[in-house]
Amino acid sequence: MKRVDDFRLRLGKHEVVPIMIGGMGVDISTSALALEAARLGGVGHISDAMVPTVADRRFNTKYVKNKLQQYKFNVDNADKSVVQFDLGLLEEATRLHVESTMQAKRGAGMVFINCMEKLTMNAPKETLRVRLRAAMDAGIEGITLAAGLHLGSFALIEDHPRFRDVKLGIIVSSLRALQLFLKKSARTGRLPDYVVVEGPLAGGHLGFGMDWAKYDLAAIIAEIRDWMTAEHIDIPLIAAGGVFTGSDAVGFMEMGAAGVQVATRFTVTHECGLPEKVQQEYFKASEDDIEVNQLSPTGYPMRMIKHCPAIGDGIRPNCEAYGYLLDAGGRCSYVDAYHQAHAANPGQRRIPIYDKTCLCTHMRNFDCWTCGHNTYRLKDTTHRNQDGSYQVLSAEHVFHDYQYSVDQRIALPAQVRAECAA
Ligand SMILES: Cc1cc2nc3c(=O)[nH]c(=O)nc-3n(C[C@H](O)[C@H](O)[C@H](O)COP(=O)(O)O)c2cc1C
Repeated sequence: MKRVDDFRLRLGKHEVVPIMIGGMGVDISTSALALEAARLGGVGHISDAMVPTVADRRFNTKYVKNKLQQYKFNVDNADKSVVQFDLGLLEEATRLHVESTMQAKRGAGMVFINCMEKLTMNAPKETLRVRLRAAMDAGIEGITLAAGLHLGSFALIEDHPRFRDVKLGIIVSSLRALQLFLKKSARTGRLPDYVVVEGPLAGGHLGFGMDWAKYDLAAIIAEIRDWMTAEHIDIPLIAAGGVFTGSDAVGFMEMGAAGVQVATRFTVTHECGLPEKVQQEYFKASEDDIEVNQLSPTGYPMRMIKHCPAIGDGIRPNCEAYGYLLDAGGRCSYVDAYHQAHAANPGQRRIPIYDKTCLCTHMRNFDCWTCGHNTYRLKDTTHRNQDGSYQVLSAEHVFHDYQYSVDQRIALPAQVRAECAA
């Protein structure tokens, strides 16, 4: 019976354990988590979502405070077009985050960065260019293009000296999206080094509509695999979304995937950025507690735990401090929803808003509990403590469980004695 460790993922001259830990913004997939994946011989992702605020937390910088200070005059204004990112500071924050991670890297694996196109930041092209190039300057080994079609992203970096050296991948949820990307990027004379095929059971934003349940990851992979064979295109495919055990991973690799990208099982590890209180909510969640909704201002459906603080909260938009989802015209559908609610209820202070959420604020504060479909199974991957809480895992334990398990088995961790159940 095969296990994941019987396979290796080739990325140019690198050969790694075919397990990628997917990017999880905002700082849910921390440097520490990505570095563990690399130490163990796989691929870890940091995320470039809201890097200035992540840098403030880690390096004691003041990017957010200073930006808020600069645009404070605009906080009550529905028009956010004036709120612009300073590209030099954005570059600096990205460099800080990436450089410090890469300096700490040990082991035979690799560290990549997840870069979401939907982080439009009031100047989509300019800010994306800076984020990509700064990560390359700072020594990142790979970039996974996410949350968007990225039709122009290769062109933004094609003149960078590391364009052919950094591993570049794209996340797609359909053959059509891949075909469009390849067509638009062909001019740069470079194929992606890997393609993550993400199915409807993933966490974060989904590349499907609200009819996501009709789609099946294995069927999408088979369609892409067959098309690539017919076109003589050879790019490693990475299966993502709902891969919960080593056996699930082997199943995808036996049908032609070169590796898997996983995330949900790592949300309850010490290295993950979620506060432990939130991790316990992930453990406790039942299948009924998880929904796919349309609250994200990006327009993509997103999977969340239904009772998370982000849902229904009518907080004043924080675009002057954050503003990552402002489109090229300075608009965000949460800002619109907020101002409409206040125009309809003059004088009222905090009005619950249920159709959109202030994603920047809530992701930044770990109050938007986005999660994968299989989150309700996390309780089966660990021990229950005496006080009813669940034992948080180590990333090494989860990684090795994917790498070595067979027969759909999930290894439980060594029980922490002080917390042993009676
Ligand atoms: C909490 C959480 C946050 C995520 N955030 C992002 C993100 O910021 N960008 C992204 O491309 N994918 C994101 N994802 C998707 C993962 O990177 C990954 O592809 C997917 O969740 C894998 O499926 P699994 O969670 O069932 O293992 C997120 C997933 C989770 C669970």
